[in-house]
Amino acid sequence: SLGYAIIKTGSVKNLHTWGCTERQRNRSVCMKDPQRVQEILQSMVKAGSNTVQVITDFDMTLTRFAYNGKRCPTSHNILENSNLITSDCKEKLTELLNIYYPIEIDTSRSAEEKLPLMVEWWTKAHELLVEQKIRKDLLATAVRESDAMLREGFKRFFDCLNQQNIPLLIFSAGIGDILEEVIRQAGIFHRNVKVISNYMDFDESGVLRAFKGELIHIYNKREGALLNTDHFQDLRTRPNVVLLGDSLGDLHMADGVQDLKNILKIGFLNDKVEDRKQAYLDSYDIVLAKDETLDVPNAILLYLTDNK
Ligand code: TMP
Ligand code: MG
Repeated sequence: SLGYAIIKTGSVKNLHTWGCTERQRNRSVCMKDPQRVQEILQSMVKAGSNTVQVITDFDMTLTRFAYNGKRCPTSHNILENSNLITSDCKEKLTELLNIYYPIEIDTSRSAEEKLPLMVEWWTKAHELLVEQKIRKDLLATAVRESDAMLREGFKRFFDCLNQQNIPLLIFSAGIGDILEEVIRQAGIFHRNVKVISNYMDFDESGVLRAFKGELIHIYNKREGALLNTDHFQDLRTRPNVVLLGDSLGDLHMADGVQDLKNILKIGFLNDKVEDRKQAYLDSYDIVLAKDETLDVPNAILLYLTDNK
């Protein structure tokens, strides 16, 4: 593939110019410190792919942000747009989205300032969903009939990790039952995939009565990671992490990793690109602006697994 050839034939610097020349796709691959990316990759190759684990966000990271100019749904949106909820509830959820999403991506507010507002959003949304008496046995159909879309190249991504026995953790502030259904229907819910997310709690008749456990929202992934010590303990022989996210809160998904050695952080910058680019460049090693594909992560995986 193109990405493979570029990483193979030269330095990661070429990756830098790759996106910029692909004008037709309007995407760009940006790095503040390409040399550092190169060093991290080389160090991981040296350690071997059996020391690597991948940790990824779900909504707007594994799924597309937009398709043909139209926004794609998050796992919450899939329910919101389904016939499992009343039009009144849908209206209220859309109202919440219109209030809180601009806050989520607002660069003029700090994470501290946003945190209580995000908790408010998630809490209100989950309360509305619980009022709807959603039936477990109807979730699969809702997902099947939705516009959910994984990023281009998703199959290669999941299949490669599975073939190489590299553990993949999907760490999502979305809804676990929905995202599991998305990946199950796409035929990629392989054995190496583990999900940490908000799960629905159904009563004996299969009707939603609450959400289980601690709420995960976009700004408490650190706490969520620290609650899952068993998972990270099992993976302690894999101190090299490739992390994929689309929000700055996603950077904390690896906070539970034990004896972390190297971490390569890849960030999808989907929206408000100009406003947020600097902040993303400062915190993610590779920033993929307006890129609806998994080409770059796939090229990196190939580089890591094909250099034994
Ligand atoms: P993620 O951690 O898998 O990316 O999921 C979080 C996303 O879910 C975040 O971008 C906001 C979005 N979201 C909705 O679209 N609707 C909602 O009602 C809520 C609470 C979150
Ligand atoms: Mg996300």
